[in-house]
Amino acid sequence: MLMAHAEDGEKTLKKTLTASSLVALGIGAIIGAGLFVRTAAAAAQNAGPSVTIGFIVAAIGCALAGLCYAEFSSSIPISGSAYTYSYATMGELIAWIIGWDLVLEYAVGAATVGIAWSEYLNNLLTNVLHLPPIPYALCHSPFEMSINGAHGLINLPALFIVSALSLLLIRGTQESALVNNLIVVTKVTIVILIIAAGWSYINPVNHAVYIPEATKYVDHQGISHNYGGIMGILGAAGVVFFAFIGFDAVSTAAQEAKNPGKDMPIGILGSLVVCTILYILFAHVLTGVASVEDFRTTGKEASVAFAIQKYMPGFEWLAKLVTIAILAGFSSVILVMLLGQSRVFYSMSRDGLLPKVFSQLHHKYHTPYKANLIILVLVGFFAAFVPGDIVGDMTSIGTLFAFILVCAGVIILRKTEPDLHRKFKTPFVPLVPILGIVVCGAMIYGLGWTNWLRLIVWLLIGFVIYFGYSVKHSKLQKHHKQN
Ligand code: ALA
Repeated sequence: MLMAHAEDGEKTLKKTLTASSLVALGIGAIIGAGLFVRTAAAAAQNAGPSVTIGFIVAAIGCALAGLCYAEFSSSIPISGSAYTYSYATMGELIAWIIGWDLVLEYAVGAATVGIAWSEYLNNLLTNVLHLPPIPYALCHSPFEMSINGAHGLINLPALFIVSALSLLLIRGTQESALVNNLIVVTKVTIVILIIAAGWSYINPVNHAVYIPEATKYVDHQGISHNYGGIMGILGAAGVVFFAFIGFDAVSTAAQEAKNPGKDMPIGILGSLVVCTILYILFAHVLTGVASVEDFRTTGKEASVAFAIQKYMPGFEWLAKLVTIAILAGFSSVILVMLLGQSRVFYSMSRDGLLPKVFSQLHHKYHTPYKANLIILVLVGFFAAFVPGDIVGDMTSIGTLFAFILVCAGVIILRKTEPDLHRKFKTPFVPLVPILGIVVCGAMIYGLGWTNWLRLIVWLLIGFVIYFGYSVKHSKLQKHHKQN
């Protein structure tokens, strides 16, 4: 049935995307809060300068999982996501687990970028417009405390940006290719400028101990982190893995690719390669310009702008430009994530796993507006009341788990559907998927038990909904009963 849908789709969707436009699409969805906010957090809490090695580990995990995504998206070329692939190949329960897990990737991920947006908004107010900052209590979660002892209450700017973009989505405003390309060019230019300008400001003292010795770092709120050594690198990899999330968005455009068999792997792996090179250089410069101590204290927020302002005299203009570009760039990432979330809920509701409200379309705008509003409540809650570190790591662990299931799915599908026409085949199966599972599993391990617990609780909530609601309403189960 899914394939029949796809063939219908093939008649309507124009096959216009080339490999290079797919790479641009990928980069547009990828570069965001992971690079501009989480890199400094990973350096401060996990790995110091060796966060660059964390980026390499995360990139290897993504490349291996990306090869598996590419096989799925070329054999089940339906605009959708890992949820659709698993529904077709591994059945409803696994599909539910992935779909529920993708809420962490998209909805909680959108909240994370919203919180990062809030940090840079404050930087815009104080350092670009020279206005007073938003009071700490009004731009931080109640579970956060500043190094001066101020307490958070609610993150209003984060709530504002996710609300504004949700409303935009309801209106059905789609980013045009032109706007996307413009944002991609701006983001890449900013990253290259920072690398080029910052390189000569690297202070060798900050890189003197590149891989710190394994210890515990207890932050000012009393939270303990594994710092340094192998565990530090794995932890950092799990944290900065966030920076790669979004490359799987390329796989959702499979139906629109001119030559999916060739263009999809180039699109997925090409955007990964470009971003990995930029990320490693960027992280090397950032940890060289400012110290780990900076990122733990005064440079904890809006770290990139902070490092330029404090250590790169004459480049104040760059700090200002970065802030403005980041605010625009983050908005486009949030938009893609909110859109992804509404598509996943839409598909789950169409299959009967979620109530019909999630797939009801607005009579005028033809968007799943009720789904968008419910998602807004969910994302808004996380954005307003949960600290950025926690939502960021929840996004990473949830996505890593989904990647593991996608890798496993390739092995299963080779056994259950050996004759399925695959335009792109993952090389060296089962080695590549197994390595993908091992590397993503290692990052989950590195994220530590508090995050494992969060993932388990999240999955348990998902099971309660599945067995309480979805099994009773599922189209597939009804179909089985009728036959
Ligand atoms: N990769 C995206 C970001 O870093 C989600 O913001």
